[in-house]
Amino acid sequence: MSVIVISGGRRLEGCVPVQGSKNSVLPILAASLLSGCVSVIHNCPDLSDVAASVAILEHLGCRIAREGDTITVDSSTLDRCDIPEHLMREMRSSAIFLGAVLARTGEARLSMPGGCELGPRPIDLHLSALRRLGAEIAEQGGGLRCSARSLQGCDISLTIPSVGATENAMLAACAARGRTAIYNAAREPEIVDLQRFLCACGAKVRGAGSDLVVIDGSVPLHSAEHRVIADRICAATWLAAGAAAGGEIEVEGVPREQLLPVTDLLAQAGCDVREESQRVTLISDGYLRAVPPVRTASYPGFPTDAHPPVMAALTKGTGTTVFVEMMFENRYRHTQELARMGADIRVEGRVAVVCGVPGLQGARLEAADLRGGAALVVAALAAEGESRIGGLHHLDRGYERLTETLRSLGADIVRV
Ligand code: UD1
Repeated sequence: MSVIVISGGRRLEGCVPVQGSKNSVLPILAASLLSGCVSVIHNCPDLSDVAASVAILEHLGCRIAREGDTITVDSSTLDRCDIPEHLMREMRSSAIFLGAVLARTGEARLSMPGGCELGPRPIDLHLSALRRLGAEIAEQGGGLRCSARSLQGCDISLTIPSVGATENAMLAACAARGRTAIYNAAREPEIVDLQRFLCACGAKVRGAGSDLVVIDGSVPLHSAEHRVIADRICAATWLAAGAAAGGEIEVEGVPREQLLPVTDLLAQAGCDVREESQRVTLISDGYLRAVPPVRTASYPGFPTDAHPPVMAALTKGTGTTVFVEMMFENRYRHTQELARMGADIRVEGRVAVVCGVPGLQGARLEAADLRGGAALVVAALAAEGESRIGGLHHLDRGYERLTETLRSLGADIVRV
């Protein structure tokens, strides 16, 4: 079983070009089913979740070629509409294939994506959006059977601006007759990227980035080429690492406004943050001061995925910071591991109270989920002595060449 070994306490210095966005590429790979033509997708990160999506596409009959960071999907050869349970389980966000397969074939059979490390992950909003569009969905024995003789455009009002439900509704609406309007849509940059890909295929989609997305469906689609946006959560993780370990780092490729909740917070915590349109530079002495309560929210609020690494950075320093997690129940499993490094964190339900300590000590640690794992890496970089981090399959879901990237910044980190 491989582990990451980090000797902490080294300053980080240098520039990181940020990888392609995991949360963009996954729905775009699913969306490549819609056209029945060839999609050339550039800047795909090398992640286990991407491999899982590719395995699903191959199972469905698509032909895939991968060269460097470009994945080419030929979905003209699609010949089935079922996704077996083992492929669904590989990836938490496999529910996105529901809307895509349904849109392409009028039918979809897949197992219910189960709960995940972050707690139950309901898809009720996805299902009710698809039902509004005319899909009949039977849920039996952990399986979903969806069919739609024809999908019909409609108004969909989401009770929560769910990212996945917005994406599923957009994909299915591309195959519906007439106009679909999604109210209270998620506004994340990844939704905008999905819209850009769909439009490149010829679809008529507008409004992404606002809370109203409008799709004029049943437009003929064609082959397309697309470049996936950079991953704002990876960028936030590198900034948190620089803030915690001390040093001067630059992240490149993410528009500065996408990082504002994180850069504002780190600036309030005492870091010197300089921003250009696609580049953020952060200078830190490695000791942060407490900031006002941090509450996660949908975009453009503070991203739940950046919560753990930023919390890890604030464990070393002065004062007390309150974190409130509004999205997922089990977001705090990394806090027990941070406590073993000497962090002072108390968790009560959705609230975590972090009292800054003068220093952290290296320890044997186990990642329990993707971003919690990133928090352990951030803390280990800032700690005195050696840390060994296991549970790397979680990190491999979201960070491409993690050890190489941090080593290029001067970290003492190896995977053994
Ligand atoms: C996506 C991201 C994930 C991020 C999350 C929130 C991908 C692949 N994953 O996940 O990294 O942490 O957005 O920014 O893009 N909910 C329901 N019913 C539903 C759907 C969601 O109650 O049918 C709830 C969820 O439990 C959660 C909230 O809505 O509390 C937001 O979830 P959602 O935006 O759907 O997250 P995901 O799309 O799963």
